[in-house]
Amino acid sequence: MNSLNNYLASTLLENKTAHKAITADVSMYQRLCDKEASLALVGLGYVGLPIALEFAKHFQVIGFDINEGRIDMMKDHVDPSGELSTEDFLNRDITFTASPKELEKAEVIIVAVPTPVGKDNAPNLRPVTLACETIGRSLKKGNIVVFESTVYPGCTEEVCIPILESVSGLKYMEDFKVGYSPERINPGDKVHTLTSITKIVSGCDEEAEREIYNIYDHIIEAGIHLAPSIKVAEAAKIVENTQRDINIAFMNELSVFFEELNINTHDVLEAAGTKWNFLNFFPGLVGGHCIGVDPYYLIHKAREHGMQLPVISSSRFINDSMPAKVVKLVEQRLAKAGKKLSESKVLVLGATFKENVTDLRNSKASELAQLFYAKAGSLDVIDPMADKGEMMDYYGLNLAETFADDYDAVVYAVNHKDFEIIDWSFIEEITNDAAVVFDFKRTLTVPVEGAGKIEYLTL
Ligand SMILES: NC(=O)c1ccc[n+]([C@@H]2O[C@H](COP(=O)([O-])OP(=O)(O)OC[C@H]3O[C@@H](n4cnc5c(N)ncnc54)[C@H](O)[C@@H]3O)[C@@H](O)[C@H]2O)c1
Repeated sequence: MNSLNNYLASTLLENKTAHKAITADVSMYQRLCDKEASLALVGLGYVGLPIALEFAKHFQVIGFDINEGRIDMMKDHVDPSGELSTEDFLNRDITFTASPKELEKAEVIIVAVPTPVGKDNAPNLRPVTLACETIGRSLKKGNIVVFESTVYPGCTEEVCIPILESVSGLKYMEDFKVGYSPERINPGDKVHTLTSITKIVSGCDEEAEREIYNIYDHIIEAGIHLAPSIKVAEAAKIVENTQRDINIAFMNELSVFFEELNINTHDVLEAAGTKWNFLNFFPGLVGGHCIGVDPYYLIHKAREHGMQLPVISSSRFINDSMPAKVVKLVEQRLAKAGKKLSESKVLVLGATFKENVTDLRNSKASELAQLFYAKAGSLDVIDPMADKGEMMDYYGLNLAETFADDYDAVVYAVNHKDFEIIDWSFIEEITNDAAVVFDFKRTLTVPVEGAGKIEYLTL
């Protein structure tokens, strides 16, 4: 595989320096460079929009999304996901559209639509199959379709390609080619960005591999890894996220047990972390659309093969039950102080699915807030990143704008940068005597003289 990677790297160099060839079999990559062909992005969310804008620095790009409201915002240089700035839209060769007809102009089509799970945690492939139907209607001979949406191994070949073939009437491999290239961006992370993360690519045959490799290599500074097959590339992405899920579940399981033994897990991890090969994971709330969702795609695929994945399934169970465990712990600590949760005032800091993002969907912090809402005397949720209307729509909860000064429990659930100004003296100001403060990631610094009137809890 290394030699193939080297071969592709040298081909790329040739292509990059090549003059415009006027032959019929000139590469798709060259035609994109020469703006004789266009590249389309289908699905312009957290993943699709940055890719579209990066390619639009060099190629002619069509940005297609079914959500007209989002398209209107992008036409006004606003990223609906709140990750990119107006400058990121400037000097880009891109047309934003909600009209599927525009896809007829594209010869390379990249798909970045959502892959959620349903209520039963089974994969919901509807956005992907709909996107395939849309693309199928405008697919032409010579086109290349690359899937970026996270799916289980086999999905591209077993689900997507048959739809492309039947809707377009074209023959896979003969008339059009397919590849898979998983996205690894991390919303809210300004260090690991699209171009600075090694990109995995794969293609259905050597020609597709070469074209897809060259196309992505044009924008990715960190380099390209060519996977030997589409299935391997699909599996690699899902394994990355499942590995994180399992490791966090391990930490969560330990933290609840160590709490029982009156041992602080962070102290244990600090000590154990002095060994060279100890892995750096911490207890936490696992929400969002990737780590908490992707393992279910693997579980689903295993079931199709009559197999169970007990390690992965238990990890999902452990991480999903963390909000309830936190509520129970806080309730127990309040009880020790002679307070009933049903008469206590609780503050939850943070509602989005992780720090420094605006996205409220699949948020365990908000789920935690809902549990407190059901059990506590009263509840304030404060999150400067979250949208009030969305919070009400998704979770039926209000977002408070100001802090009260009489909380019996404070749960520091999401570590937004905006919360960095919260220090111990502020916590003292906003809490009653014998309050419980639950600090998930041990963010607060407790004074050396001790927590005083506060019962301080980390996992
Ligand atoms: N968000 C992440 O951090 C991240 C990271 C890596 C991979 N992924 C994966 O990338 C994929 C996209 O995730 P996302 O976070 O960008 O989703 P998102 O919800 O932010 O955006 C998806 C976009 O696709 C649009 N869309 C839905 N169905 C469509 C269709 N049929 N045709 C055209 N547009 C359609 C939506 O309107 C939306 O704008 C998912 O498979 C996800 O698992 C996400």
